[in-house]
Amino acid sequence: MRKNHLIDLCDLTREQWEEIVDLAVQISQNPSAYAEAGKGKILATLFYEPSTRTKMSFQTAMFRLGGNVIGFDNPQTSSVSKGESLADTLKIVSGYVDVIAMRHSIEGAVLAAAQAADCPVINAGDGGHLHPTQTLTDLVTLRIELGDLNHRVIGICGDLKNGRTVHSLINTLCHYQDIEFVLISTPELLLPARFKEVIHRSGCRYREVLSIEEAIAELDVLYMTRIQKERFTSLELYNQQKNVYVLDSAKLCLAKPELKILHPLPRVDEIEPSVDTDPRALYFKQARYGVFARMALILTLLSSQNKEAVLHGNTAGDTRCPNPNCITNLEEGTPLSVIREGDQSYCEYCDSPLKD
Ligand code: NCD
Repeated sequence: MRKNHLIDLCDLTREQWEEIVDLAVQISQNPSAYAEAGKGKILATLFYEPSTRTKMSFQTAMFRLGGNVIGFDNPQTSSVSKGESLADTLKIVSGYVDVIAMRHSIEGAVLAAAQAADCPVINAGDGGHLHPTQTLTDLVTLRIELGDLNHRVIGICGDLKNGRTVHSLINTLCHYQDIEFVLISTPELLLPARFKEVIHRSGCRYREVLSIEEAIAELDVLYMTRIQKERFTSLELYNQQKNVYVLDSAKLCLAKPELKILHPLPRVDEIEPSVDTDPRALYFKQARYGVFARMALILTLLSSQNKEAVLHGNTAGDTRCPNPNCITNLEEGTPLSVIREGDQSYCEYCDSPLKD
């Protein structure tokens, strides 16, 4: 783990994140045994972007561990509105609490925050980039409801370009054996090249298709996602993409009886409500498992002794990240950090490919 933060699950080894999943499953079987495990500890939830599930499941997780919670979900009511930098806010809050869960609309903002903090920082979503605690939730769901993850065909449908839950899920599932990803999206919302490269390097496979119907019969898991309206540059572009994918009972007739349907939620119209009563629909259970996943993560971070450095890359002189929504372009004192993989370089904060 980077120091003792959670920026992406892939900063951990598969064994390390599976220990957290194991603990989450144990907690789910006997939650009252953990009712005092976080006694005297404080979590801060710093949400610079809207959230229902993630924020409330973090809060519930900390309360169920016997701890306390402070935080904000409207930065306009905090000193951020007076112009306080991210680094200063994190320096201050991390002096008050034992662990911080943070969501921000800028890619790489949570990694930058972790560098300023004196306590563990958890990435609760950074722009369209990553969302590792949703992935932890997905892994707990799949462990309980599916079992072994190796040798599976995983369909991922919707906004693969902007969906941070998709990016974190792919980064993580690539560490299992013989996964075939079926990427279901329009040409406008394809998975970014960076994550295709991750699949390629892992030895797993992917193929891209345009419709749910052409893939659904072979899937073990179907991960539906919302078209991320807030990441589009115009309403017109969003309107062209919304409603393209709708999972309904007719399409499910083509699927395996043991298919697992996941969705990080919120849903807009990509899953018809009539699907909710299908035993293959797991998304409401998935949201409940998220509390156990976050309880396990908080406990792990509170007991972590790991002091590894936060950044792995090298600073890059005058080179700038090409992503205008990357923290390196938006927060002073956050220079680009370059990760080299083969003959390609990436921004460590937002994963954008860099030109040499
Ligand atoms: C997701 C997110 O915020 O990225 N929601 C969540 O945390 N469960 C998915 C989404 O907003 O579409």
